[in-house]
Amino acid sequence: MKIGILKETQKGDKRVAITPQIAKQLVGRGFEVRVEEDAGSSSNYKNSDYSKAGAPIRSKEDIFKKADVLIKINPFDNNELKKLKKGQIIIAQLFHKSHPNDIEIISKQGATAFSMDAMPRISRAQDMDVLSSQNNLAGYKAVILGAYEMTKIFPLMMTAAGTITPSRVLIYGVGVAGLQAIATAKRLGAVVEATDIRLETKEQTESLGAKFITVDNEGEKSEGGYAKEASKDYAKRQKEAVNASLFKADLVITTAMVPGRRSPVLITKEQVEQMKNGAVIIDLAAAQGGNCELSKMNKTIVKNGVKIIGTTISPESVSTNASDLFAKNMYNYIVHLTEGDKFKWDLEEQITDETLIVYNGNIRQNSKTE
Ligand code: NAI
Repeated sequence: MKIGILKETQKGDKRVAITPQIAKQLVGRGFEVRVEEDAGSSSNYKNSDYSKAGAPIRSKEDIFKKADVLIKINPFDNNELKKLKKGQIIIAQLFHKSHPNDIEIISKQGATAFSMDAMPRISRAQDMDVLSSQNNLAGYKAVILGAYEMTKIFPLMMTAAGTITPSRVLIYGVGVAGLQAIATAKRLGAVVEATDIRLETKEQTESLGAKFITVDNEGEKSEGGYAKEASKDYAKRQKEAVNASLFKADLVITTAMVPGRRSPVLITKEQVEQMKNGAVIIDLAAAQGGNCELSKMNKTIVKNGVKIIGTTISPESVSTNASDLFAKNMYNYIVHLTEGDKFKWDLEEQITDETLIVYNGNIRQNSKTE
């Protein structure tokens, strides 16, 4: 089976789906691997690193012409979708629910598509879960970005010129990104607090040495590890519980998302007006509408001395590590889907069933897509 690794075309994304080390492992399993020129260069992997790993460099045209399986991180762009041939298999994050037109084109081309972002959240899929591996790095990077934008340091520092008190960090949403943000801010010496609608996150927060802010409401339960949309009553009680910490915070990182919906507004304009002068909000949910009412995607807004940075959970800026983890997830997934160098097509198996979006041109239905 011939596997082609494509260079990312999405602006700003410096990652690569397969690193030389993983390419070597795929070759060792009997696959023929070909890599588009400079696919790894923004992650600091050279063309020669791939060639040495047994995965020679080819042009994009050549890869599209000859590969049985095409691999990328982001959804295929329109030019790429049009190049797909009948019977070709693609593996990427397709975000099929928000990109229905892409799925139609893949179907018309008679191709097959697996989408890694549709991975079920079950224990045995953990080592294939790219959302998890990438969000973890994004949580780390959000704290580093916050530290850069702040005019204060994180740790307690006692000097001859006086004592600097530690910064106060507040995290909304204790999922994968939030947990890593807590751990990173703690490591840097901040006083960290966090809140989440899923009560099971209290213990996780406390195990990292941070304080959990419990919202007095027993009605909110999670579904399959994911949050449900919060009720109005919950949102009101959350504000009451969190406001005292919010108004003292030097850095606020928001990561709260509800799958398939606009992210909840957790910090209103009125709340921002009561925050400390010089505070920074990093809103990682900006692409889904934002957790702060004032945030705008890819923009920095300053309101009453509070800097609000609208960004997304995207680990592109730590592309070497992000590529390493993505590639390992992809390798585990390919191993899971294949036997020898052939696909198993075990459509009864949950991971295959939920991630196989288009099969030989047919758009599939499963319990998640119906
Ligand atoms: P996410 O990115 O969908 O949301 C981030 C966090 O925001 C979640 O913890 C959510 O509960 C919280 N949130 C949503 N609405 C909120 C509100 N109104 N107020 C406060 N917080 C709110 O979540 P993520 O990071 O994808 O993780 C969800 C869970 O899934 C985690 O427990 C994680 O460990 C688990 N997981 C399991 C995997 C597996 O078993 N294979 C793989 C990846 C994650």
